[in-house]
Amino acid sequence: MPSLLLLPGDGIGPEVTAEVEALIETLRARHGLVLDVAVEAFGGASIDAHGVPLTDAAVARAKASSAVLMGAVGGPQWAGVARHLRPEAGLLRLRTEMGVFANLRPALCFAPLADASALKRHVVEGLDILFVRELTGGVYFGTPRGIEDLPDGSGQRGFDTQVYTTAEIERVARVAFTLARSRRNRVASLEKSNVMESGLLWRQVVSALHAREFADVALEHMYADNAAMQLVRAPQQFDVLLTDNLFGDVLSDLAAALTGSIGLLPSAALGVDGSPGLYEPIHGSAPDIAGKGIANPLAAILSFEMALRWSLGRADLADAVMAAVRHVLDSGLRTPDLGGTATTAQMGAAVRAAVG
Ligand code: IPM
Ligand code: MG
Repeated sequence: MPSLLLLPGDGIGPEVTAEVEALIETLRARHGLVLDVAVEAFGGASIDAHGVPLTDAAVARAKASSAVLMGAVGGPQWAGVARHLRPEAGLLRLRTEMGVFANLRPALCFAPLADASALKRHVVEGLDILFVRELTGGVYFGTPRGIEDLPDGSGQRGFDTQVYTTAEIERVARVAFTLARSRRNRVASLEKSNVMESGLLWRQVVSALHAREFADVALEHMYADNAAMQLVRAPQQFDVLLTDNLFGDVLSDLAAALTGSIGLLPSAALGVDGSPGLYEPIHGSAPDIAGKGIANPLAAILSFEMALRWSLGRADLADAVMAAVRHVLDSGLRTPDLGGTATTAQMGAAVRAAVG
């Protein structure tokens, strides 16, 4: 039986994943969804319960599932914990262990929300772009890294290593090109090949792969800093944006602001064909509103929509969930992040009602 591992995590994570669980119940009862659901502690919740942000048992369970859906990790309570035990370290370990190297982050501007964007309506109306961010390499994982004392006693030196191999670049670029073919057939590959060796290799490998296997897709190379400017100036020029781990982290947050609220954006992290995907709303744990029941559950619900599509073989139900979310937003219901007064529970209930 297909299985989903839920990792509610910290902050608003448990509140928004509770709405996903309720939606799964509805889909089981009325739409023939067959899905086994298990839950494990993650992040700070796991530190409190087990002393580590992710247990070996949770990792084993994640790898054995069809898909993993997480809420969010982190919070001020765990800010003082040693780096390798921090909630974020648990997330990085999970990504590595699952081998989910391609992070899909769609930024979609729903028509009734165009006025909630930081940009003018005409700039973002109808926006539909997709980041494909490399997720298990680059400066996040490169070695050597550390902070060391300078021999002359004048201070310290902090260092990280940005590193990419041909194979790492190729496999994520292949995902971007393949997805572009089912969209508007355009890829913008972002790097800093003007200053970074890894950026130069990135550009060369993407170009070679393009010439070899994807000449039908329109490819453009762009410096990442210019892409940041283009994203706020004229985001509609993009279709698929291919990035390394760090540029993708920064620019996908920027893209989130274009759509009105980070509370709306889902993501999928995929590995080799047939391996389980990792799905997460891209908002964080939002400690400032945690426990108040006002978090927007739509990013978590849309992350589950991506899981239905990419890991659970139920594109039909994914379409139904997407249609329900559109219907609810069209009806005017809004959580406070979008200027409304609806609670997390009201929003979740509305989506379930719209699914039918
Ligand atoms: C993200 C987050 C993570 C990242 C953190 C929490 C480790 O910012 O998913 O974008 O930097 O990848
Ligand atoms: Mg981020």
